[in-house]
Amino acid sequence: MAEKDIKGKILYTDKDIQKKAKELGKQITKDYAGEEVILLGTLKGAIMWMAELMKYIDLDTKIDFVAASSYGSGTTTSGVVTITKDIDMDIYNRNIIIVEDIVDTGVTLSYLKKYLEDRNPKDVKICTMLDKPSRRRVDLKPDYIGYEVEDLFIIGYGLDYDQRYRNLPYISYLEPGDL
Ligand code: IMP
Ligand code: MG
Repeated sequence: MAEKDIKGKILYTDKDIQKKAKELGKQITKDYAGEEVILLGTLKGAIMWMAELMKYIDLDTKIDFVAASSYGSGTTTSGVVTITKDIDMDIYNRNIIIVEDIVDTGVTLSYLKKYLEDRNPKDVKICTMLDKPSRRRVDLKPDYIGYEVEDLFIIGYGLDYDQRYRNLPYISYLEPGDL
C-alpha cells in the first residue's frame, strides 16, 4: 500500500503524539518526584514513542529495551510470549516504567510484567502510546495512556504490519482490503 493512500486515514499526527508525550512526561515527572526511573522500551514498536516521551521526563532517568513477541507476521496474537531480547540492567528495587506502543489483548504485557516482577523491582508501571481496550483478553490496565483507539489494525509511529510502516510519522490504520 502506497503512503499517499495511507495518508488519507490519519488518526493522529506527530503533533498529536508530541502533545501526549509532553502531557504524560510531565505527569510521570510529578508522580516520581525525587526518584530514579528506568524507562523500559519494548522493541521495536515503542522506539518513536519512547524517544518522544523521554524528552519530557525531568527525573534521574535510565533507559533499556526488551523485546517480547507474541505476534507472528499476521495481525492476531498467538498467545504464546517469548522474550527475544532481555533487559540488560539490574532492576532490583528500581522503578520500572514499561514504555509500550500499543496494548491490544494485553497478553504480552501481563507476561512481561510478571517476568520483571520476579526480579523484585520496587515498582512496575506501564506507559502506552495507544490502548485498544475492546480487545483485552487479560485483566490489565496501563497506568499512563496516550490515546484510546478502536478495534483497528494500527500502523505508523513505530507500529508495523509485517515490519513495514514503522517509519510513518503519524498513526494510521489498515483495513482488510489493504492487506
Ligand atoms: P498484545 O499482547 O495483544 O496486547 O499486543 C502485543 C503487541 O502486538 C503490541 O505491543 C504491538 O507491538 C502489537 N500490536 C497489537 N496491536 C497492533 C496493531 O493494531 N498494529 C500493530 N501492532 C499491534
Ligand atoms: Mg509492542
